[in-house]
Amino acid sequence: MSRVLYEKDDHKVILFTGFVEGDGVHSNQLLIEDHGQLALFDPGGELTYQPLQMEISKLYDLKQLEFVVASHQDPDIITSLEKWLLYSHARIVISTLWQRFLPHLVPSVRANDYKDRIVPVPDRGAIINLGQCQIKALPAHFLHSVGNLHFYDETSKILFTGDVGASFDNPDDDLAVEDFDIHSDGMLDFHQRYMGANIICRLWANMVRELDVEMIVPQHGRPYVGKEMVATFLRWFEELKCGIDLMKVKSYSVPRL
Ligand SMILES: [Fe+2]
Ligand SMILES: [Fe+2]
Repeated sequence: MSRVLYEKDDHKVILFTGFVEGDGVHSNQLLIEDHGQLALFDPGGELTYQPLQMEISKLYDLKQLEFVVASHQDPDIITSLEKWLLYSHARIVISTLWQRFLPHLVPSVRANDYKDRIVPVPDRGAIINLGQCQIKALPAHFLHSVGNLHFYDETSKILFTGDVGASFDNPDDDLAVEDFDIHSDGMLDFHQRYMGANIICRLWANMVRELDVEMIVPQHGRPYVGKEMVATFLRWFEELKCGIDLMKVKSYSVPRL
């Protein structure tokens, strides 16, 4: 299914969700259109490629796809890369840290044949020019991947946060979070295990507060809509103890029979 999150003048943001059936992890994909050019964020793997490209094809010509953008390297993020390389003209935006691993995802195409289509993003982040708008690729390393990027669309004021803010219990992933306390109970375990450390959460929250964010859209589960809900999420996230904060001596003991 798809839902338009923002539409004004020649700028549109569409959330796709619900394409993963069976045991795969539910995931969201984001498409931004500006003045006829498209950028697709975290398109996923084999489970999402077919339905996603069919849905996009109903709305646009795939020739309009300028960028396929990956927040990090996980299977639910970018394992459909080979198909996007073969069946579109899009350039691939990805952290420099994961660039060297791309040949593992694209075994049937020689690296030399697509190297000009790779847009590597350094650790400090980058600006992506799409149509007449700018999208900021923000550093989000260790949340959870060591080379991790989030994306801020200046026009819609939507921040796409990959696994940060992700939840996995809701069948209606396109609807906004309503009761944050109930919602955060359901996402606590995931964030405690997958996020690197509290200091990173705090550094990231401080960076996000510099931006004018109207909506946070994670790669899994419901979006956080409105400045008040965004602020509530940031307060929760910067207090979160996670990752190495929770490691103890017994976490690294040798297994015994
Ligand atoms: Fe991930
Ligand atoms: Fe994910």
